[in-house]
Amino acid sequence: MIRETVRSWGLSPLLNAGVNLQTLFWSVAILIFIVHYLLPGLGELRWTIKAQSLGKLVPRERKPWFPFNILRIRRVIKMFREQKRMEFMREQIKASANPNNPNTIRVSMLTRRIILTTDPENIKAVLATQFTDYGKGEKFNKEWHDFLGDSIFTTDGDLWHNSRNLLRPQFIKDRVSDLEIFETHAMSLIQILSNTKGEPVDISELFFAFALDAATDFLLGKSSHSLQNQQDEFAKAFKVVQTRQLMNSILGPLKLLVLRDQIMAVLLAGRDTTACTLSWLFYELSIHPHVVAKLRQEIETTVDLERAPTYADFKNMRYLQSTLNETLRMYPAAPFNVRVALKDTTLPHGGGSDGNQPIGIPRGTEISYAPLIMQRRADLYPSDQLPAEEFSPERWEHWFPKSWTYIPFNGGPRICLGQQFALTEMGYTVVRILQRFSTVECRQPDNKAPAMVTDIVVSPHHGVTISLFE
Ligand SMILES: *[C@@H]1O[C@H](CO)[C@@H](O)[C@H](O)[C@H]1NC(C)=O
Repeated sequence: MIRETVRSWGLSPLLNAGVNLQTLFWSVAILIFIVHYLLPGLGELRWTIKAQSLGKLVPRERKPWFPFNILRIRRVIKMFREQKRMEFMREQIKASANPNNPNTIRVSMLTRRIILTTDPENIKAVLATQFTDYGKGEKFNKEWHDFLGDSIFTTDGDLWHNSRNLLRPQFIKDRVSDLEIFETHAMSLIQILSNTKGEPVDISELFFAFALDAATDFLLGKSSHSLQNQQDEFAKAFKVVQTRQLMNSILGPLKLLVLRDQIMAVLLAGRDTTACTLSWLFYELSIHPHVVAKLRQEIETTVDLERAPTYADFKNMRYLQSTLNETLRMYPAAPFNVRVALKDTTLPHGGGSDGNQPIGIPRGTEISYAPLIMQRRADLYPSDQLPAEEFSPERWEHWFPKSWTYIPFNGGPRICLGQQFALTEMGYTVVRILQRFSTVECRQPDNKAPAMVTDIVVSPHHGVTISLFE
């Protein structure tokens, strides 16, 4: 029978070469056993013994026992191709975690041991209360080095501390409340939008250019002017490599390599996060006309439809803040984040029969936490509100999230330095655009929501196409 199978697979040359089929069969079987069961099993055993000496065990992701499960692999590939990483992770966690607190599991991938968590207590521990136990780690630094260098995002300890001290003065209130920097770029953006005369436009592409111009102007005192050069192939290219080249040309005179890495990283982070958040915000506006109307109403009463808004105006625009909050709730700019245990330690939740006992975390274990999934957890929202999956700035009117359940800017010692800058920049942009345009209409193909591409940031697949009317 083996002979027949081998033939039907078109491997008859093997037979002709005189390979002993029995030997072949057993070799393959033993190989599968070693690769699929024995090696992972040994690593698993070592990890488990260590973890148990530190605390309780966290449930492990349920895996099919049959090796190389075709159906599962096909499904995983399909979900990833359709940009459904969030759904995939959510299902995985739900299927395997303790049903009493179904928010933390462990995944084994060859030599890696990864904890996936959407439990605010665990996230608080990693980011704040056990800050020194966890870090970005060397592997992260290596993996992201080409993109982010030895910057604030890729280092721990003293290196990270120095980066933070170097960058902090950039974001003091005096600088952040100087809104003039946004005005020029907002006006360029609005000019381009005006020229569309209601024709469909991918606004996310413009937001990327806008955010880069504003960030370069703010951090370097010199703008990249990518909005004005929209026709320029160079300015249109948002790929990492091309952006780096563009940055290099602006940063040319900066000889200090360290500072260059820092600034480059912050520019890219500042551009991508702001551009993506504004893109999602305008997608939601395009399908929620009542939000546009309420925002316009608020702008009219606090500013008017002409004057440039001031820093003080923003403090009085609650609905605008609710809209920004709600956008960052559904689309946190950093959707998934990762830390590694720098020593043997614990996390407060996930073990024991109730799923609420501390779990053991051996050194080297990766912790992957997901604000994107946590901030859409149905059980974190009062039942009289719209469901967590629905965009509703109104939910912020009489409600405030419990601590560590809403972390669009992270938290603890590594909390985002650019938070005020980003919120001001986005608020300014929304006000300026809605002063000019009264209607935002969705022009997505079949009115479908853009798929969420979850990378470092969560960006809309193929952008956000809308029409704007004055
Ligand atoms: C928006 O969220 C921030 C926390 O990030 C909070 O301080 C603020 O009060 C919220 N604004 C509104 C209008 O709910």
